[in-house]
Amino acid sequence: MAAQPHRERVQVGIVGAGPAGLLLSHLLALAGIESIVVETKSRAHLEQRIRAGVLEHETAAVLRETGLGARMDREGLAHDGLFLQFAGAAHRIDLKALTGRNVMVYGQHEVVKDLIAARLEDGEVIRFECADVAVRDIETDHPAIHYSRDGAVHEITCDFIAGCDGFHGICRASIPPQALTLYERLYPFGWLGVLARIPPASHELIYAAHDDGFALLSMRSPQISRLYLQCPPDADAADWPDERIWEALDTRLARSDGFRLTPGPILQKSVTAMRSFVCEPMRFGRLLLAGDAAHIVPPTGAKGMNLAVGDVRVMARALERYFTRGDEEAIAAYGPACLRRIWRVQRFSWWMTQMLHRFDDDSPFDRRRQLAELDYVVNSRAAATTLAENYVGLPMDWGDG
Ligand code: FAD
Ligand code: PHB
Repeated sequence: MAAQPHRERVQVGIVGAGPAGLLLSHLLALAGIESIVVETKSRAHLEQRIRAGVLEHETAAVLRETGLGARMDREGLAHDGLFLQFAGAAHRIDLKALTGRNVMVYGQHEVVKDLIAARLEDGEVIRFECADVAVRDIETDHPAIHYSRDGAVHEITCDFIAGCDGFHGICRASIPPQALTLYERLYPFGWLGVLARIPPASHELIYAAHDDGFALLSMRSPQISRLYLQCPPDADAADWPDERIWEALDTRLARSDGFRLTPGPILQKSVTAMRSFVCEPMRFGRLLLAGDAAHIVPPTGAKGMNLAVGDVRVMARALERYFTRGDEEAIAAYGPACLRRIWRVQRFSWWMTQMLHRFDDDSPFDRRRQLAELDYVVNSRAAATTLAENYVGLPMDWGDG
């Protein structure tokens, strides 16, 4: 006879300990709502996984307001501007002057470290290294998460399940396909991302549109640079020895004022596919999706993690209304409230991507049009403000009032 599962009950079961799942658990705890987070990977893996790096003004503010800002404010780098570079010259977009706001450069894995530490203060609320994770009975009022760990089978029955398990997770895939509409665009290129032990060659990010393809100079600290190169979508990082990477970066980031990169040790390299994707609706029964489980943006606008944070902020508030007042309407309103912001961010991420990358079928007309668009953005205060207000994060009604 099969062993009986180990059974637990919690108000909210969360699948995935990325920024979305961890922050949701943190916000719920502050509202007095219990949650358990089920994750397939180890704590060490999550704390070393290099991904996004730019926090919108509001994302940094929410971390600060919820007691997670101390290390970010000590070690993060507040940026008041960025550079758009093309035709051999860099042009500064003054985010602060144009919007009154700035962004914070602080790695996603650092945010994850801070969140894990905060959540583990409440006991064993994150279950790492779980296998065979599945969600059941999501159309009922007693949905459940099943998983196995250390040779035992576990079942967590909940009032709601939050699907925060990223693009390749199991939550979205557990919804009947006919209940969902998927919107998708794949781009004909990827990004090769490298982490290098060299001081950043610029104190602010440089987004460079070059005839050879896009390049981005970013950073993680005064000693560590984060650099990206547009590459074929199926590129293998192994085909990019360090010398090839430095040569391509040097070419694409070179300027007529003599700006050059100094090569240094490359600590990590990987290729990321570029995709725009939205799943509607973001809820099926008692399963609510958030973050990359529901949508993906190409990283050109630095929005992926910020969107995930925005979703769970709205979801935590909706769940709080449900648990304090039995407000089912708040649950129904969750997805539509998020989707308005998601589509605006999709538009911005697509716009930045199409303006800055080379496409296989670029005609000479398309290339001149791209350069004219960049010329317009850096020389028109109205156009620069459009970029800046999207980059620092559009003002939002979070329903907190
Ligand atoms: P995730 O961070 O993906 O977290 C999902 C979690 O769920 C993971 O920990 C995963 O292990 C877990 N999980 C998956 N399946 C299961 C399961 N079956 N059971 C339990 N747990 C599961 N954005 C930028 O703005 N800039 C960047 O440079 C950038 N680089 C990126 C590089 C890569 C390789 C990827 C994948 C994304 C990148 N992004 C970037 C996007 C950004 O990192 C994401 O938008 C952000 O991580 C979304 O957070 P999330 O919590 O929704 O999902
Ligand atoms: C990063 O630092 O990883 C980063 C910065 C800006 C982007 C994307 C990634 O647009």
